[in-house]
Amino acid sequence: MSTSERYRRFAQVEALGRSPAYERLGLGIAGDPEVLALVERLPEPKRQPNLVLGVARHLGAPTGSYRSFRGWILDHWAAVERTARVRSTQTNEAGRAAVLLPVLAMLHGPLTLVEVGASAGLCLYPDRFSYRYAGRPDLDPVDGPSPVLLTCTTTGTPPLPTALPTVVHRVGIDLAPLDVDSDDDLAWLDSLVWPEHHERRERLRAAAAIARRDRPQLVHGDLTAALPDVVRQAPPDTTVVVFHSAVLNYVDDAARAAFEQTVRELPCHWISNEGPRVLPGITGRLPIPSEQVGGRFVVALDGQPLALAGAHGQSLDWLGRP
Ligand SMILES: C[S@@+](CC[C@H](N)C(=O)[O-])C[C@H]1O[C@@H](n2cnc3c(N)ncnc32)[C@H](O)[C@@H]1O
Repeated sequence: MSTSERYRRFAQVEALGRSPAYERLGLGIAGDPEVLALVERLPEPKRQPNLVLGVARHLGAPTGSYRSFRGWILDHWAAVERTARVRSTQTNEAGRAAVLLPVLAMLHGPLTLVEVGASAGLCLYPDRFSYRYAGRPDLDPVDGPSPVLLTCTTTGTPPLPTALPTVVHRVGIDLAPLDVDSDDDLAWLDSLVWPEHHERRERLRAAAAIARRDRPQLVHGDLTAALPDVVRQAPPDTTVVVFHSAVLNYVDDAARAAFEQTVRELPCHWISNEGPRVLPGITGRLPIPSEQVGGRFVVALDGQPLALAGAHGQSLDWLGRP
């Protein structure tokens, strides 16, 4: 796919109806040979619209009109290029805890949580968030409502718990973990949230405040290479749960297969929350054709698909065990 097609597709498929600003900027870049030529100076994986637009906003680009954005990016391209080469898309969406919670609640605690591709580790606190599943009783931590309030629509009959799980140990693994104590890392996470998504931005800040008070252990490393040691070092008498969301799309097929083999051989449960093309073995076990998954993720426990989830945890369509 050409860079122009990539930006047009981003505007017309991914941003459509979700971000008027990104729709406008994506279409503008797609039809602008001068800006496209700059974007093509970046290595292929760094030409991602989400990365380039996130970097531009991080550095202060205006998003009100394509004309003002274009003027800015032509003037500031050197800084955009420098930052895009060192940063990557590490969007950390605590809202995804709402689609992982019912699966975590199926397991006997206390739990050790190991998140691979954890970014800043904000999904490692499912026991510290408040949940509002449409039409279901409020679900809060034992010490009262959390500043992180996750709302989620449901269909089917997800096994929603009446109490949050007990988590005694939390570890994240990432190639480049982000630090909740670093203003620059937090500003970068903020820039990765799309312009109009103010609620997600507030959630990011509230989840980061929780993580700052009780910092997660973050291991610098590859999701497969670093995993066995982390699982082996889990406290005894805990159920180890390895999970990941929106991560395996960043690695190739061979790395996905190596990860799956490794996680299946370790003494742990495995929860995956990924797009339908990422783990075809799991998607192939869905009781519906994969074309019907749409933009949702497939949530699976130990390789068995259980639900389809909104990409940011906003919806959970429970399939049940086939
Ligand atoms: C889009 S973020 C998702 C973060 C988090 N899982 C969430 O749902 O909010 C993907 C993360 O995966 C990490 N990542 C990508 N490839 C990786 C690998 N081979 N090993 C470890 N982490 C990786 C990236 O650095 C990034 O922080």
